[in-house]
Parts: sequence; C-alpha cells; structure tokens
Amino acid sequence: MNSDFFDLLSTWNLIRVSGFLSYFLLTFAIAAGLMNRLLCFQKQKPLMIELHKVSGWTGLLTIIFHISLLLVDEYVPYSILDIVIPFSADNDPVFSGLGTISLYLFLVTFATSDFLMKKLGRTLWKKIHFLVIPAWILMVLHGIFIGTDTSQTWAAFVYVGSIILIMLLLTFRYLESQLGSTKRKNASF
Ligand code: HEM
Repeated sequence: MNSDFFDLLSTWNLIRVSGFLSYFLLTFAIAAGLMNRLLCFQKQKPLMIELHKVSGWTGLLTIIFHISLLLVDEYVPYSILDIVIPFSADNDPVFSGLGTISLYLFLVTFATSDFLMKKLGRTLWKKIHFLVIPAWILMVLHGIFIGTDTSQTWAAFVYVGSIILIMLLLTFRYLESQLGSTKRKNASF
C-alpha cells in the first residue's frame, strides 16, 4: 500500500469525514422525523420512524468518533476539557463551543427519546424532543465556520441543500398543523 492511502486515513481527514457523516446522518434523522408527521408520507410512516431512529443513533456514534479523534490528533490537539467545556478550546473557541453545545442538546434529546417518553408525558417530551432544531442550527454553524471544506463547491451544496430541506419540511409541518387546528375549530362550531 502506498503512502497516499495512509494520507487519506490521516486523523485530520477522518475528523473531516466523520464531521460530515454525522452532519448528514443527523440532518437525515431530523428530516425523516418531520416527514413521518406529514400527510403525504402517511403510507411510509413506519419506514420514516425506523429511518429516524437508525440515522439518529448512528449519527450520535459518528459524533463520538469525531470528537475522540480530536483527542488523538497531533496537529490541532484538543484536551477532554476543551471538548466538554464550551468556548474553552484554544482552536476556534466560538465554533468549537457551538459544536459542544450542539452535542449536549442532541444528547438531551437522545437520552429522553425512547426511554422516557411515557414518564415525561407527550407534551413535555415533545418540547424536549424539539431541542433537535436548535441543536441542528448550532451544528450547521459549527460545520460551516470551523470546517476546512466549506470553501469547496460540494460542501456548499451539502450545507445549502440541507438548510433548504429542513426549512421546507418545517414550513410544511407548520402549515399542516395550522390547517389541522382550523379544521378542529370549524368542526366544534
Ligand atoms: C453535534 C456535534 C458535531 C457535529 C455534527 C460536527 C460536525 C462537523 C462538521 C460537518 C465539520 C466540517 C468538516 C469539514 O469541513 O471538513 C466539523 C469540523 C470540525 N469539528 Fe465538529 N461536529 C460536532 C461537534 C464537535 C465538537 C464538540 C468539537 C470540539 C469541541 C468539534 C471540532 C471540530 C473541528 C476542530 C473541526 C475542523 C476539522 C477541519 O479542520 O476541517 N466538533 N464538525
């Protein structure tokens, strides 16, 4: 095997790849979660829920890989405290910090996802679960502003495409819920 192959597997490259992989998986998890509630996807609801769960959990595992690599990278080393205390890292404190806060918000939603839904009650559970939206926004800012690849055309497509997708799904979801409450009000008269 030549040295180009090993360069490809350098810690820095793996940090970049795992960053994008977790970005993709978590965006996909949120998209599938939003789609499972939309009327036009009712036939695919079980599939959407499965995709939502699988991509969410694998996204979380990929983030753990992403931050573990930062601990062993020799070029821009991070300590465990740099990672767990937001805005304390020497390297890009603001956008590293946004990555950490995003991770915490995702952890809260994961920790309460399957296990605590019944205990918390649906309304509180739903409010907590919607923390994925601020988590996702912080993740987008983290990726765009800290990443080496942001200036690449393909990366711009990934970021712009994912932002448009989530905005559209949130808008459809909002419109459907408004339509639903108007119908309920009319029916009660
Ligand atoms: C929700 C959690 C996270 C996600 C989804 C995520 C995702 C990403 C993405 C998409 C990139 C861009 C890769 C590139 O342009 O090449 C990136 C880069 C980076 N992330 Fe994260 N990240 C997360 C958490 C963190 C945390 C907690 C830290 C450390 C405090 C961190 C440190 C870094 C660093 C140093 C880079 C720059 C790598 C480079 O040189 O391109 N990330 N991350």
